[in-house]
This record gives sequence, C-alpha cells and structure tokens, in this order.
Amino acid sequence: MHFDCIIRGGNVVTPGGSFTGDIGIRGEKITALGVDLDAAGATIIDARGHHVIPGVLDVHVHLELPFCGTVSSDDYVSGTRAGARGGVTTVIDFAIPSATGSLSEAADTWMKKAEGKSLIDYTFHICITRYNEHKDQIADMVERGFTTFKEFMIYESEGWQSDDRALFGTLEKMREHGAMLLVHAESSRVLDELIARHHTPALMKEHGAMLHAITRPNFVEAEAIQRVVQWCAATKGQLYIVHMSTAEGADIIRAAQARDVPVLAETCVQYLVLDDSVFARDDGHLFACCPQLKKPADAERLWRGLNSGEVSVISTDTCTFTREQKAMWEGDWTKIPMGMPGLETLMPLTYTKGVLQGKISLEQMCAKLSTNPARIMGLAPRKGAIQIGADADIAIIHPTATRTVRPADMETNADWSPYEGWELAGFARTTLSRGEIIVDDYKVVGRAGRGRWLPRTTAGLAAAPQASALA
Ligand code: URP
Ligand code: ZN
Ligand code: ZN
Repeated sequence: MHFDCIIRGGNVVTPGGSFTGDIGIRGEKITALGVDLDAAGATIIDARGHHVIPGVLDVHVHLELPFCGTVSSDDYVSGTRAGARGGVTTVIDFAIPSATGSLSEAADTWMKKAEGKSLIDYTFHICITRYNEHKDQIADMVERGFTTFKEFMIYESEGWQSDDRALFGTLEKMREHGAMLLVHAESSRVLDELIARHHTPALMKEHGAMLHAITRPNFVEAEAIQRVVQWCAATKGQLYIVHMSTAEGADIIRAAQARDVPVLAETCVQYLVLDDSVFARDDGHLFACCPQLKKPADAERLWRGLNSGEVSVISTDTCTFTREQKAMWEGDWTKIPMGMPGLETLMPLTYTKGVLQGKISLEQMCAKLSTNPARIMGLAPRKGAIQIGADADIAIIHPTATRTVRPADMETNADWSPYEGWELAGFARTTLSRGEIIVDDYKVVGRAGRGRWLPRTTAGLAAAPQASALA
C-alpha cells in the first residue's frame, strides 16, 4: 500500500488501546495502523519516544465574541493558531443571534468570522436567545447541518437569557429533531440578588475581585443544573451542561445519569487546575470568567467525575480579553469582561496536571479531549480517534519535556496567561490536520484559512453514546 506520510514508531493511542508503531496516511485520511509500514515515496515523521494521540476537539470556544461591552480578542486567526500549538484540530464556537437576528443570520455571521481565517476545522453551536421567534427556525438549522443548540440561563443584559419555558420547550424540540441542547446553568435571579447586595463602594473596596467568587456560591450553579435536569427528565430531550464547575453539579449529573436521564456534562480545564484564591492577587480580576473559579474540593470532585464518567468532556470556554480590556473593571467586579485564554494550554494542562500527576490515564485524556467530544457532538467517526478511515488529525507530544508558559511566546492575542511561569509538558511538537503538518517543532507552519466548516447530521448525534458508553 502506498502512503503519502508515515508517522513512525510512536506510542499510538487508539480507541482499542495503545501500541508502539506506525500510522499510514494517504491524502487527508488515516489508511493504516501497524509496524514497519512500507515507506516508499512517503514523508516520514519520526515519533519515536513520543505519544501520538488524536487531535483535540475544543467544543467550547468563543472567538471574536461581542461580550461585556467589548469583543473577545482572539479571532479565528490567532485562536486557531493557538489551538494548533496545543494539539487542537477542531473547534466548536457559539453563533449568537444579534438583538433582532434569526438563527440563520447568526450562523452566517459566525461563518464569516471563520472563513478564510481558520487554520483548523470548525463548526458552531447555534444559540437560541429569543425562544418565541427562534423555536420554529430549529428544523431549518438542523437541515443546514447544525445539530447542537445552546441556551443561557443568565446574561439578561446581553439579551441572551432563556427562562424555564424556553428551556423546557427547546428540550422538547431537541427530542423531536434528535438534536442536543447545551445549557449554561446558573440561577439568574439569586445571582442578581447576591450581586445587588454586595454592590457597595465599601464592599468593593474591601474585597475587590474576590466579590466575583463571593457572589456566586456553588448553589447558584447547582440549583440551575438541578432545574434543567428536571426538564430534561420530563421531556427526554438530550441535554449537555457546559462548563460545569462545582462538586454539587457533578453529584446531580451522576444521580441523573443513574436514572437514565439523557444528560451529559463537560468541565473546563481551568476548573481543574485553578481555584478562587487567585482573586486575592493584585491582578486577580484577570481571572474572572463565568462561572467563576471554585474551591480545590470542587476541582478534586471534577477530576473524580472524569474518572468515574459523569464528566465526559474537558473544554476551555476560551474567551480571551487583554489586560487593557480587563482594566475596564476599575475596581467594580461587575464590569470585568468575563473569560480567559485557553486553547493553547488545554492539552498541556490536562496532560501535566492530569496524566503526569496520576489523576487520569493518557487514554482517558484522549477520551475526554478527543473521542468523547467527537462522538457527543456528532463528528465521529471522522474526528476524535486514531483509526482507519478517520481524518488524519493527530498530535505528537513528548512524554516529559516541559516548556515554560510565557505570553510573549504564545499564539493567543492575550498579553497575559492564567498559567504564566508554569512548566507544562504536552505542547504539540507536531500537529497534523487532515494529513497536513500545521505545527512543526512546536511552531505553527499551517496557513490561515485552510480550516473547513464541518456540517453535521442528527444521525451523527444519534450515534453518540449515552454516558454509560463513554469513557
Ligand atoms: O467567562 C466566560 N465563560 N465567557 C464566555 C461566555 C460564557 O458564559 O460561556
Ligand atoms: Zn457560559
Ligand atoms: Zn462559553
């Protein structure tokens, strides 16, 4: 058999287990797995002494998002270059309708943001922000290749908030169409009340950015998850809780899955490796994201949830703001643009803090970063696993060699990093996207605009396993 490229002699992680050997690539696809594959005429990538793993799917990113009175600073050029450097080969962003816009217009707007700019493949979740108008547009969006939708239980001031009626009705629609609803779960009225009570000059002077944590106790997330899980149980519409940050959330998901409620959950890597003590730093406001960072005990529970299965996916919720943008807060935590850079460090953090510290295995990392997100989001078997017939989306990482996180060396447009100075293994020495080398010797070499939109069908989603079948 002829190959265009052979990845030679690495520790190859596949869904069936790991082996030391070769991957044969022809065109954009993986066409063989084995040992000593025939090298005639093929480009050889030497992977000896390295892990060869599936390209990462970051299924929760916001690039060039108008939010909190500004626009997030990583666009499809910088964001996807950053991702590639961390072994990410697919992103899923959120297309959010304008104040009067339709779902279709939102998809068009986000297509324009990505086209001609994205280095890697991409698609979007479609956000339902005005249920009455948008509910009858869902079928057309499914037809157009968008099979995952999103509702926010907060962000009234952005015009994005959904109430219980919308959540319940949309879950019914998800069941009808075989689609999936992603939900940002926080209890908005209680949150409003806690923010109002603390929004005084004296308390802001005393607590500064720590008020971001003080006003969002764990029950704000837990109550909202509990409520939407109830609508999920009643409707049997497929539900996916995004950026789950609390131990209580993990307990609720575990209990619901035990009752066969069709709910899945993701966490983000920042909730696994950071905690709310950062808000006490002089630059603590930089770390404001939504939901905010929680306690070390929450991180421990989320790692356990990854191990026992109630947490299926690790993503980033990348929503980058520069120091200058973050400075908009001027001492009032309610004015901090919420979000952090993440794409570049997703795998290095998960590998260094998860795999190398024995919290999860290398195979589990590949399940949570690649195989599960691809299956859940309807992109398998094309994406998410090293197997014959799949796109040759592959990352090659050294098992132990570390690099120091320095914003100046990074691809993100952020001029800071939550992880500045951390020594992390797991940056991609080489990243391949559909058989093309886009990162070589830790440097991005791929061309902006080569990334493609990934249409999906509900058949792909229907093939997504329930929690019990996911690692
Ligand atoms: O802080 C965050 N997460 N910004 C993006 C918006 C969201 O809620 O996902
Ligand atoms: Zn959110
Ligand atoms: Zn988000």
